[in-house]
This record gives sequence, C-alpha cells and structure tokens, in this order.
Amino acid sequence: MQNKEIKNICCIGAGYVGGPTMAVLAKHCPNIQVTVTDHNLERINDWNSIDLSKLPIYEPGLDEIVNKYRGKNLHFSSEVEKNISIADMIFISVNTPTKTKGVGAGKASDIKWVEACARQVANNAKNHTIIVEKSTLPVRTAEVIKNILESATSMKSQKNPSISFDVLSNPEFLSEGSAIQDLMHPDRVLIGGEEESAIDSLTEIYSNWVPKSKILRTNIWSSELAKLTANAFLAQRISSINSIAALCEATGADIREVSRAIGSDSRIGSKFLDAGPGFGGSCFKKDILNLVYLCEYFGLPEVAEFWEGVVKLNYWHQDRISQLVVKKLFGTVTGKKISILGFAFKANTNDTRESASIKICKDLLEEGAILSIHDPKVDSDQIAKDLKMKEKKSFKRDKLIKENTQEGNWYFSDEIYESINNADAVLVLTEWVDYTNINWDKVSKIMRKPSWIFDTRSIIEPGKVIKTGLNFWRLGDGLN
Ligand code: NAD
Ligand code: UDX
Repeated sequence: MQNKEIKNICCIGAGYVGGPTMAVLAKHCPNIQVTVTDHNLERINDWNSIDLSKLPIYEPGLDEIVNKYRGKNLHFSSEVEKNISIADMIFISVNTPTKTKGVGAGKASDIKWVEACARQVANNAKNHTIIVEKSTLPVRTAEVIKNILESATSMKSQKNPSISFDVLSNPEFLSEGSAIQDLMHPDRVLIGGEEESAIDSLTEIYSNWVPKSKILRTNIWSSELAKLTANAFLAQRISSINSIAALCEATGADIREVSRAIGSDSRIGSKFLDAGPGFGGSCFKKDILNLVYLCEYFGLPEVAEFWEGVVKLNYWHQDRISQLVVKKLFGTVTGKKISILGFAFKANTNDTRESASIKICKDLLEEGAILSIHDPKVDSDQIAKDLKMKEKKSFKRDKLIKENTQEGNWYFSDEIYESINNADAVLVLTEWVDYTNINWDKVSKIMRKPSWIFDTRSIIEPGKVIKTGLNFWRLGDGLN
C-alpha cells in the first residue's frame, strides 16, 4: 500500500500527554492540522483560554508553543466525533488508570476509555484511518482495538468500501516537568506495527524533527511491552537507591556519595539515582502493577513477585519518612505545626498524582499535626481533593491545644516564610528551586524551638542550616 498523506490529525485525550505531544507535533509540521479533543469541556476551555496561565497543564515552554500555533494548525475541541470523521490519523491518548473493581482490580490497567475511543472511531471514521496508541497499554491491547474496528468495518464498508484501519503502537516516554524538551529531543521514538505503509506515514511525521536513526521499528507487542518495561526499570532504580538510603542512615554512609560512586560505572550510569521521598506520578506504580498483573495472568508468579517488590519498597519508604518525623519530634506531632514544602510529585509540574506528599501528609494529619502546605504550582483545591480533607484556613495552635484536639488540620500557604512561621518543623518533599534559596538565618528566628528541618530531596546545604542552630536531618545521611 502507498503511504497515506497525513493532512489532519485528531488526538483523543487533552491531558498531560495529548496536549504537549500534539503541541510539539503541530510546531514541527506546519502542513498538518492538529486537533486535540477531549470530552471534558472544562479542560478544552482551559486549553483555549486567552490567559496562558490558565492552561490546564503546567510544563516549562508549553505556553509559548500553544500561544504561537493555537488557531493556526493547533486546535483544541470537545467535538470528538466530528474531528474523528475528518482525521487521517488518530492518536489515542486517554487515561489508563489501575482498575478499582472487577477482575484484576488493584493491578490491571483499566482500558475502558481506550475501548470507548475505538468504538467512537469505528462509528465515525469515513476513510482509511491510522490509529496510533499513545496511551500506555497492557500488551496485546492493539488486538482489542483491531477487533472492535474490524467488526464495525465489516458492517459499514458495505456502504463505504474506502473505510479501513491500521493500528500502531507509539508509546510516549516524556517525563513531566521536562515534557517539551523530551518531545523535541527524544532519546528514541518507538513505533510498533504490522503494516509498513502505516509505519512509514508516522515515521515521516516524526522525521520533521527527530533524526531517523532514533526512530525504532518493532513488532506491535514488543512496543507495548517496552513501554511498561522502561517504566519498571526506572522505578526499580529509585526503589533500589531509596533502600540503600535507609542502610546509609544506619551505617554512617552517605547516599549522595554512594550514588556518585556507583553512577560513575558506565554500566550503571548516573541518572535516576537520586534518593527521595519515594516515586510518585501517574505512571510508575500503575505501569508496574500492570506488569505484575500480566505476569500473574501468563503464569509467571516469580516474575510478578520480583516487580511487585519495587512498589512495596516505595510504600515502606514513604511510611518510614513520616514515622521518622514523628520520632524526631519527641514521638508526637499532635498540635505541632509542620511546614510542608512541595506537594507536586516532582518539580516543574502541577501534577500531584501519586505524589509522595499525599501519603506523608495523610500520615502526619492522622497523628494530629497541623500542616501549612506550600507549593508554587499546586492549588489548595487540588490538595483538598488529594488529602480528602477540607482546608482549615486559620491556624490557632494554642486554641487547638486548649481544646485538646487530636485531629490534624491543614491550610494552604502561598508564601514560604509564612508557611514556616511558628512551625516546629519544615519538611521538604519536592525539589522546587525556590526551596534551595531559603534564608535559614531568617527561618531560625521565626520557628518555634526546638525546630527541625527535614530534607528528603538533598537540595539544602546542611552547613547553612546547622550553623543557625536548627536541627537538620536529610535522607540517606549516616551523620544525621
Ligand atoms: P490525563 O488523565 O491527563 O488525560 C487523559 C484525558 O483523556 C482526560 O482529559 C480525559 O477527559 C480524556 N478522555 C478519556 N476518555 C475519553 C474519550 N473517550 N473521549 C475524549 N476524551 C477522553 O492522562 P495522561 O497523563 O495524559 O496520560 C494518558 C496516557 O498516557 C496514559 O495511558 C498514561 O499512562 C500515558 N503516559 C502518561 C505520561 C505522563 O507523564 N503523564 C507519560 C507517558 C505516558
Ligand atoms: C516517568 C518516566 O520517566 C517517563 O519516561 C514516562 O513517560 C512517564 O513516567 P514522570 O513520572 O513524569 O516520568 O517523572 P520521572 O522524572 O520519571 O519521576 C518519577 C518519580 O520518581 C518522581 O516522583 C521523581 O521525584 C522520582 N525520582 C526520579 C526520584 O525520586 N529519583 C530520581 O533519581 C528520579
């Protein structure tokens, strides 16, 4: 078959992947009209907002691209079906969270939204259409999509013989916070598929900005599995380094020195060796649990157990941090104010999904702490949703102590020193650059004594804190 000329692209799903991916594609392909669709009208309105600070996703560099190409060859629309009907190529970029009910609950990925997309495409496509799986999917999902499309085609093509479909797997490897850079300069682009002409069409699009040598072709199942495996390997490194951080604290070693020493081995490499409060984000846990489910399903319990250990270690590690804070504060945090610096799961994103801050804050609230939470990009509504607890705006410790309240409370603070004022402890959970420039002299004067600073991200210079008389603890430091 001859390569299909792609003039119109429709992306279903205007989230953290769909939005930035299509923005970069539109930037590099001026001759293609790209429409990002979503059934969430509010999200689409935000993407179309004139005030660029209202875009639903914060990613450095994204607003600039949206500003330049929106309305030219980049569009955001809630008319999913109409845009499917005119598209030559459709990217499926919808969410695939862990199933909460039914077979595989707690592990398997829920592909109901992907299936819904396949049905929408089957019902609305008018010509030959290439379907690209951008979402991260269990191995062999392409088969489900093909089945749905083929059964619809066999009925419709009696009316219109030009309707047919090819399905490709093209998983996304972007990291939040550096999505635009990752999309502009990817380590590789992976395309899995059976039909050479469809693979060629997608390769041609990427070739507008990605060197051909970085575009890898595989069979469709390898492509789907490679995505899950990449995330499992990355998460495994973080659980590995966090496990050794605990051992450092027990033995007098320093995790930063251990990371540097092992990272200098070119076989190991230096990336992804930063100990932290435990991995968060919408992908790692979900994708490993999906891998675990697949291993169990295919009769490989030992392999399943191996990978499940990565997630278990992450839970344990987050528990360990909240317990340690309580222990250092004389075994109780009831009625004590703790300033939480950072709620996003990593710096440079407003995403809080699976953020370590959620679990750690919940644990401290359970212990009766009063948390003043600061984050430069996450708002109080999102925090309330994540903590499943309303914000209590006024902080009156004395009143709370007098009432002998055992209940924890939290409030949102939009200023770092306000958050720290009168606190018993500061707990740094996200590596925002704002937290690297804190004036510790000033802090030592506004905290209640004895005061503790806990750094789970290794972004604070210990000497600067210790010299002010504040107590300092940092993750994986045997000299704590
Ligand atoms: P998201 O929740 O931010 O966005 C998904 C969007 O799809 C939502 O806005 C939702 O309303 C929309 N949607 C769902 N079903 C729809 C339908 N039938 N019609 C129209 N819109 C529909 O999710 P995300 O973070 O962008 O992730 C999407 C996929 O990409 C997931 O499979 C994820 O695992 C994968 N992925 C995510 C990242 C990341 O960093 N977030 C990176 C690589 C891969
Ligand atoms: C991840 C993958 O990196 C990306 O390729 C995939 O497409 C989506 O999932 P993301 O979740 O956006 O990306 O961020 P990532 O940089 O991988 O960080 C994940 C979590 O690990 C964060 O909580 C981060 O703080 C933590 N992390 C990362 C560490 O604790 N230490 C490190 O050295 C690196």
